Amino acid sequence: MQANIVLLPGDGVGPEVTAEATRVLNAVAELGGHGFQLESHPMGGNAIDDFDNPLPPATLAACKAADAVLLGAVGGPKWSDPTAELRPEQGLLDLRAEMGLFANLRPVPVFESLAPFAPLKPELLRGVDLLFVRELTGGIYFGPRQEQGDGDVAHDTLVYSTAEVERVARVALRAARGRRGKVASIDKANVLASMRLWRRSVTEVASAYPDVEVSHHLVDAFAMQLMRSPADYDVILAGNMFGDILSDEAAILAGSLGMLPSASLSSGRQGLYEPVHGSAPDIAGRGIANPIGAILSAAMLLRHSLDLETEAAQVEAAVANVLDDGLRTADLAPDGQAAISTTEMGQAITDRIGGA
Ligand code: IPM
Ligand code: MN
Repeated sequence: MQANIVLLPGDGVGPEVTAEATRVLNAVAELGGHGFQLESHPMGGNAIDDFDNPLPPATLAACKAADAVLLGAVGGPKWSDPTAELRPEQGLLDLRAEMGLFANLRPVPVFESLAPFAPLKPELLRGVDLLFVRELTGGIYFGPRQEQGDGDVAHDTLVYSTAEVERVARVALRAARGRRGKVASIDKANVLASMRLWRRSVTEVASAYPDVEVSHHLVDAFAMQLMRSPADYDVILAGNMFGDILSDEAAILAGSLGMLPSASLSSGRQGLYEPVHGSAPDIAGRGIANPIGAILSAAMLLRHSLDLETEAAQVEAAVANVLDDGLRTADLAPDGQAAISTTEMGQAITDRIGGA
């Protein structure tokens, strides 16, 4: 098949990990006779430096016209001045809103070979298979805000409409049908009016999915339960900010934040794919970042935007294979154990695609 894929390498380790995901996509294309057109565009801090805009109009137009977008990471200390007018992160938020990417899927890959390395007891990890569905274009990230005022007060507003909650709830309920049939919906309904609306809207939509078991949890208690008995949960549905926080917490289960992929989807086939980790400025440019989150994001791109399920599964199997063989980037290598570089990991995974 032919596909037009926009690459947004971004900042920090972004370019390093996207290069490895690109290597994998090129291998998949060659093996299957697909024509993937990959085209890089500036976005984030680098785009602020070169274009005074974290999301230049040409980048946005290219993303809107693409079949799929693969992003590395944005941000870094250079652009973190609290008084700065332009922020790399704003480019990403605008891109999500402009592309209508309201549903963010964040599976937590728990590979057996990494279990002894994760900080939790290995027996707690047995049977863990989680999928976060995070609402991505609403909530406190997008509500009315005021940063300046008279300088002493700033506010952000948490707003949700029933329509916004219902459409993302449907994504979670449908996903649960193809899995273990359970959705845990996260809120703070004991305190926040917007979260009472959340709970009501989820309950309403869920009545059309009697085969799916829906439970409701307050975010604070759930944050603890998630580490105490992660195998109890299947799909976890959350608003923008709670989903952001809980999915980083869940990285503990995968052994490293560098392992987690994500897909941000609209109502159509188009999507944006990015690792959950950030730009990691502390390790950028050293060739030691874990490219697996980016590579598994490329697998999600193949599955969700290009409908190439077989190829997606091949990439995931190749990742499992290198981990079974004991290959580890530094984030997964306990002190003293030999670690391989970002490029070596990308190459090792590429070599195993198609069972080579
Ligand atoms: C994420 C990131 C972003 C978010 C930032 C970079 C805007 O943390 O994708 O999880 O908060 O959504
Ligand atoms: Mn985050």
